Amino acid sequence: MSVLHALQQRNSHGKLSEPGPDGQQLDAIIAAGLRAPDHGRLRPWHFVAIQGERRAVLGEAFERALLLTHPDATPAECDKARAAPLRAPLIIAGLLKPVEHPKVPRVEQVASVACALHSMSLAAEALGFGTMWRTGRYAQDAVVVGELGGQPGDEIIGFLYMGTRQGEAKPLPDVQIESHLNFY
Ligand SMILES: Cc1cc2nc3c(=O)[nH]c(=O)nc-3n(C[C@H](O)[C@H](O)[C@H](O)COP(=O)(O)O)c2cc1C
Repeated sequence: MSVLHALQQRNSHGKLSEPGPDGQQLDAIIAAGLRAPDHGRLRPWHFVAIQGERRAVLGEAFERALLLTHPDATPAECDKARAAPLRAPLIIAGLLKPVEHPKVPRVEQVASVACALHSMSLAAEALGFGTMWRTGRYAQDAVVVGELGGQPGDEIIGFLYMGTRQGEAKPLPDVQIESHLNFY
């Protein structure tokens, strides 16, 4: 697959099942992400791979986070929180670990983490896997950030769900280049 083709055809896929990437493939995916542009090479990120039974442990953290902010959550809402990480065999959580810097504001550091996650999704696609970037209420939740080893002030920029695509791909939207590009 050419790089240009991969970039132009990337498509999120929500239904993902086993198998996920093996250890070598995961290393290749992470290595692709770590080449993301990063102003000042601050490395304002940390990535956490969640797979196997650890997904259920993360689901329990989601439920705890939900009940702290919504003590009246219904049993169905709690079930949904616990089941959320089971939607793919592998999740890569991309944490922003912001660095104080006179020339590199937080927004640029967020951009770097996002670029890294996007590169990881493209690398996974190049290896034949599907991905889906998700955030939702848990991405900025202190309980979940702490569960994944983050500190206060850190933030999850994305949970990149990854696995083998099930079902048909979504059709790609028509791209009208002129709606998104002007010449100055
Ligand atoms: C920062 C970010 C957060 C996202 N969070 C969610 C999410 O929580 N749930 C969801 O269904 N899609 C989320 N998406 C969007 C999907 O990953 C995907 O981009 C969207 O469904 C469009 O599909 P496409 O990427 O194939 O065009 C998020 C995307 C980004 C960049």
